[in-house]
Amino acid sequence: MPDSLFTHDALDPSYSEIAVAPSSPHVGAEISSIDLTCALSDRQLEELRRAFTEYLVIFFRDQEISFEDHVRLAEYFGSIGAHVGVTTISNPTEDPRVRLFHYDETTSKISGDIWHTDQSCAEKPPLGSILYNHTLPPNGGGDTIFASMYAAYDALSDRMKSYLDGLMALHDGTRIFGPGTPAASHPVIVRHPDSGKKLIYVNDAFTAKINDVPPEESEAILRFLYAHCARPEWSYRFRWQPHSIAFWDNRCAHHYAVSDYWPAVRSGFRVQIDGMASPVAG
Ligand code: SIN
Repeated sequence: MPDSLFTHDALDPSYSEIAVAPSSPHVGAEISSIDLTCALSDRQLEELRRAFTEYLVIFFRDQEISFEDHVRLAEYFGSIGAHVGVTTISNPTEDPRVRLFHYDETTSKISGDIWHTDQSCAEKPPLGSILYNHTLPPNGGGDTIFASMYAAYDALSDRMKSYLDGLMALHDGTRIFGPGTPAASHPVIVRHPDSGKKLIYVNDAFTAKINDVPPEESEAILRFLYAHCARPEWSYRFRWQPHSIAFWDNRCAHHYAVSDYWPAVRSGFRVQIDGMASPVAG
């Protein structure tokens, strides 16, 4: 039987400077033929940016990066961001631009185990996040699941699309981070600034309500949307290995960190890239 029946690692032929293997039909691609411990050439960078826009989440394997390498990769895409509601990055490391993501037997709650985009409660939510994990649980676990909000939008009925068009929703940071974190209203349907495509922009972690409709209606519509957005048809479950990197576009992909590995260690670092603008209605 040919190997190709069991693998989905065919390369996207439109890339020549880096190798891009789509991970699933709607979200994710694994990038190889690249060394993130070095500066990238202009042509590699142009293709990397294109892959990020096209695949929403890009993955790298076997990249043993330093803080400097991590920050260099992020800065190709924008300035390094702080956490909402605070002026410095939370869980800092000795490099103030890089945040520690470490879990072990002393961890009482693993963060991110709810479908979300990072800090959508901000007026200008982060463009993207780059998570590097050097240590993973020995028996597996600690995967991250990503979902395409373009595919979720496209699969809505025309009647539902018309209903959602023009609605705004409140995203409230206090739901996750507690007092002192901001809240902001964003359109329920957004147009991505780079791809120009429409997508669903509400998430279970931060969206408190749809504005200007009765609470029961908001609750029912949000429940429907959360179940719809989480469908496996437009999701991809990334299995980490030591020294893997996931770089996701917060503007169009939801993610969910699977909390199934306590008391094992999962450890790495994350850098967040500032959002350039508030989400714009589709
Ligand atoms: C997050 O939710 O931002 C972190 C994802 C992860 O730890 O896999």
